[in-house]
Formats: sequence, C-alpha cells, structure tokens
Amino acid sequence: MRVITVTDSNDLVLDTVPDPEPAEGEVLVRVAAAGVNRADLLQRAGHYPPPPGASDVIGLEVSGTVVALGAAVTGWQIGQEVCALLTGGGYAELVAVPAGQLLPVPAGLDLIDAAALPEAVCTAWANLVGTGGLRTGETVLIQGGSGGVGSIAVQLAVAVGARVLTTAGGAERAARCRELGADVAIDHRSDDVVAAVEEATKGRGVDVILDVLGAGGLEDNVRMLATGGRLVVIGTQKGRKGELDLGRLLTRRASVHAATLRARPLEEKAAIVADVLERAWPMLDDGRLRAVVHDRLPLAEAARAHELMDSGEVFGKLLLVP
Ligand SMILES: NC(=O)c1ccc[n+]([C@@H]2O[C@H](COP(=O)([O-])OP(=O)(O)OC[C@H]3O[C@@H](n4cnc5c(N)ncnc54)[C@H](OP(=O)(O)O)[C@@H]3O)[C@@H](O)[C@H]2O)c1
Repeated sequence: MRVITVTDSNDLVLDTVPDPEPAEGEVLVRVAAAGVNRADLLQRAGHYPPPPGASDVIGLEVSGTVVALGAAVTGWQIGQEVCALLTGGGYAELVAVPAGQLLPVPAGLDLIDAAALPEAVCTAWANLVGTGGLRTGETVLIQGGSGGVGSIAVQLAVAVGARVLTTAGGAERAARCRELGADVAIDHRSDDVVAAVEEATKGRGVDVILDVLGAGGLEDNVRMLATGGRLVVIGTQKGRKGELDLGRLLTRRASVHAATLRARPLEEKAAIVADVLERAWPMLDDGRLRAVVHDRLPLAEAARAHELMDSGEVFGKLLLVP
C-alpha cells in the first residue's frame, strides 16, 4: 500500500510498504480520508513518538470501508462505512484498527468528511464532559475554538447546554466560532482575554476551561476559573513547564487536570469511543454537531497540509485523501 513516511531530514514522502494484516480483535479499513492533527506535526518533528507497539506511520484518525476482519471481531461487517480513532497509521491506504475504536458513519454524512470527527469528538467529549465534568447551565471557556478539536468542542459544549466562551486568532475566526454556536468569541490576538472573560461572566469566572496552550496560558487560565472551576489542559502549544498559583486554586477550590488520549490503554479508548457513540454521535444525526472541514488534499500532499496547518489559516480540520 501507499503510505506517508518521515525521512531522516523530517520530510514527508509517499512510500510503498506491505499491506497491514488485522490482528485478533482488529479490523482492516481501506482509508477514504485521514484527518490532520497538530499532534502529527509534533510526531514528524520527533517530539511526540508513537506509544510502544503502535504504528510509526503518522495519523490519528481515518474514515473508510471495512475490508477484512481479524479473529474474534464481532459487530462489524466487510463493506461497512466507518471512521476510527487511531494510535497511529492514518496517513496510508489501509490501516488495522482495534474494533473498539471504530464508529459507524452517521447516515447522511459524507464518508470523507467523517475522517474529521473521531479524534476531535473523542478528545473534546472525554475532556469537557468526562474529566471537566461540564454540566448544563455551566459556563465554559474553550481556548482555540477555531481548531480541529476546538471547533468540535464549541459545538459539543453548546449541545450540553453550557454557556460557551471561546478564543480565536482574529476577528473573522472569532465570528466563525460564533456561527458554530459560541455565545462569546474573543480575538486572542487583539483583545485582553482575561478582561473579556471577566466582563462576560460579571467577574465570576468560568466553570470549565478546555486548554491547548499549556504553560504559557496557565496563569491566565487559573485566574479565569470560577469557584469550583476545572482547568483541563490537553495541549502544550505555549510550553510544558509553568508556575501554578496554588493559593488561587485553594481559595476557589479549583483544580487543574491534564490528559492525553493517545497514550491511554485500549480498554480506556474503547470506553471513550462507546460513550461518544452513545451520547455524542446522536448529535450528528439531529444537526447539533457537524464536521468542520477546512479542505481536502491528496495524501501525497501531506507536507503541504502540514505547512497550511502551521500557517494558522486552517479553521477546523484538513483531510488527506489517498
Ligand atoms: N490531549 C489530547 O488527547 C489531545 C488530543 C488532540 C489534540 N490535542 C492537542 O490539542 C491542541 C489542538 O489540536 P488541533 O489538532 O485541534 O490543532 P489546531 O487545529 O491547530 O488548533 C490549534 C488551536 O490553538 C489555537 N491557539 C493558538 N494560539 C492561541 C492563543 N494564544 N490563544 C488561544 N488559542 C490559541 C488556534 O487558534 P487560532 O489559529 O485561531 O489562533 C487553534 O484554534 C494541540 O495542542 C494538540 O496537541 C490533545
């Protein structure tokens, strides 16, 4: 099969490798499209190696068609259209996926666009509703509502019945976040985010923050938490090591969490996928949730996709089509 590999000089090239075989409990999927994630750029640069045993091919999510079943797989059929959360291997024509990480493509959703969903929906759902415990009537701040994960997180938080504040780089991107349902969208390039959140919440702060900034956003994020607030860090785009004001957490009985999806054991990923299927997937049927696709590019243009992502112009997801 054709696959994208990373050369010693960190270039992405189209290569040919033997087809993967589905192991016990796995399903072989012919890829219709692969979602591009920021983590892919980190892996390419050598900063986010695949967990032991995982494919070293980049790519954390795909959509496609089931073409073979490994031993002991039940509930999936050859020919079925699916999308899948991966630990790796997405930038390819074929990928073997643990059956517990498959999701059906909802009726009416384009098979290629379905590749934009698994990583973003599982990440946003597990961290907003799971770790963050976001409930109806609460206020949430989503840092980066314009991103692949963020554009889904905004919609999920709206669907949960939260009041949604978000940040994006530029007035136009902020306006697009409002179109996704955000009540308040703050331009982090020109506005004072802390002041804007203070104004929007009348000084109370927010109950949950979904954060992609990490260390560089830590002080402001902690400052914006309401009493009982939960900061959930899922990215370290502005650094890993920061200073935490524990005094502020103490007085507000607030908490800081950090979690990654990729490194979780198979059973935990399967449990997240099952929860997503039961509680978030129906939102795709009734229109509360939709894939946000910036563009589709041929798989062979993976390097251009990474350049585009680095340019900061992508809103939502880029997809690679083999
Ligand atoms: N922990 C996990 O399990 C997990 C899973 C998936 C992703 N992630 C992480 O989540 C992050 C987002 O991933 P992605 O694939 O969605 O990337 P993406 O599409 O590139 O999104 C990045 C987002 O960060 C925003 N951003 C950049 N600088 C900002 C700032 N100063 N203030 C507020 N927002 C800012 C961007 O907004 P503008 O472009 O509008 O400025 C954009 O919305 C990455 O760090 C990734 O590693 C974690």
